[in-house]
Amino acid sequence: MGSGVEQAVQQAATALRAARYVTALAGAGLSAESGIPTFRGPQGLWTRFGEPPMDGYQRFLRDPAAYWQEQLQPTSEGPRAELVKALETAQPNPGHLALAELEQMGVLRFLITQNIDNLHARAGSQQMVEVHGNRSKLRCIACDQRYARSEFSVSQVPPSCPQCGGLVKVDTVMFGEPIPSRWLQACHAEAAASDCMLLVGTSGTVYPAAAFPQMVKERGGSLIEVNPLETHLTRWCDVVIRAPAAEALPLLVQRLRALQGKPNA
Ligand code: APR
Repeated sequence: MGSGVEQAVQQAATALRAARYVTALAGAGLSAESGIPTFRGPQGLWTRFGEPPMDGYQRFLRDPAAYWQEQLQPTSEGPRAELVKALETAQPNPGHLALAELEQMGVLRFLITQNIDNLHARAGSQQMVEVHGNRSKLRCIACDQRYARSEFSVSQVPPSCPQCGGLVKVDTVMFGEPIPSRWLQACHAEAAASDCMLLVGTSGTVYPAAAFPQMVKERGGSLIEVNPLETHLTRWCDVVIRAPAAEALPLLVQRLRALQGKPNA
């Protein structure tokens, strides 16, 4: 590991200890070391297959039965097939585990993740919003009630919500789909309360998620980026750890544990 990374980890630990309320924004790069392809960047899914249509949600509303037919028949090729295969075999990596440990240590108060892979929950993170949904859940678009996909029997297509009779879809937020307002409210409240945000594995391309770090910055907070490459957010960051998350985050936990109990070093 380069000394530049060691130095940046030390700076990040100091910034985290000095902060009053630390939050994090996670993106696809955090799950890259779990074998799940990212969307942008050199090997990204959108880079290789092109961006998906931006009206997926509108097409779902026009023909929910066709959407469910597609959901129930796994495709065998293309971006969706590659992503589904990777999602089904992925395990939490040391980066996910380190974020869960930062929460248990009381360092990380809240996590906003753009990832739909359920790896944060499996790693033990609890205080979080999955702002783009979770592929292991279903959601009613009328009342926002979520259901575990494994416990929901799709007896009719399209399925209706047991609570309110509304239309049920996979929880993953589609392009063109409004993010449930209570998720957005929670993210805004956490960003507003935060004086330090850890940005892990996100290119900072997609809104509203990319706006949360800017909110923290505009209110005088500090930003720490963990990413092997430069991003749209780098220019606002106070500390940049140019390393993969599965390497950098465990080092950050180690450093904070070493500093614990010592006066603000
Ligand atoms: N550790 C940390 N970061 C990494 C790693 C790694 N091992 N590998 C790649 N990265 C970084 C890339 O450098 C890039 O900056 O992860 C980032 C991935 O960027 P995107 O693919 O754009 O992913 P993300 O920012 O999460 O995209 C946001 O776009 O298409 C939508 O809904 C999708 O949630 C996604 C959203």
